Amino acid sequence: MARYLVLNGPNLNMLGIREPGVYGATTLQDIEDRLQQLAAQLQVELEFMQTNHEGVLIDRIHAAYGQCDGIVINPGAWTHYSYAIRDALSAVAIPVIEVHLSNIHKREAFRHVSVIAPIAAGQICGLGAYSYELGLQALHHIVCNQSQE
Ligand code: DQA
Repeated sequence: MARYLVLNGPNLNMLGIREPGVYGATTLQDIEDRLQQLAAQLQVELEFMQTNHEGVLIDRIHAAYGQCDGIVINPGAWTHYSYAIRDALSAVAIPVIEVHLSNIHKREAFRHVSVIAPIAAGQICGLGAYSYELGLQALHHIVCNQSQE
């Protein structure tokens, strides 16, 4: 059974409270519940982690080396400037799908750049919680096709 990590960066623990006009009323727990249901359908195993500390996220990515088959990540604001998270993801060479609730391309200019996107298999944004579900489906598709090669 494939094992995937679902990682969330800073301030995403505040979903439901945080800027509902931008991020909606869905909480991180709601998102994780929906992903868990999807995981049961796909017959995959998920592990979830959210942190507001960059080094903690980097350590978790390192620990995934050889232990997990793919990563869905919403790096939050780190998306736009964390070369350290990008390098950690590159180092473990695990397939990555980057997801965002909001459409980062139609927001402030600083959000238009993702330093993660060039090392990700793909980026899904602007679809709220559904971005995560599509992200998990896309990741599973990639991983299944890889193992057939
Ligand atoms: C976000 C977009 C980022 O620009 C922002 O800093 C976040 C959330 C999103 O999911 O839309 O924290 O990653």
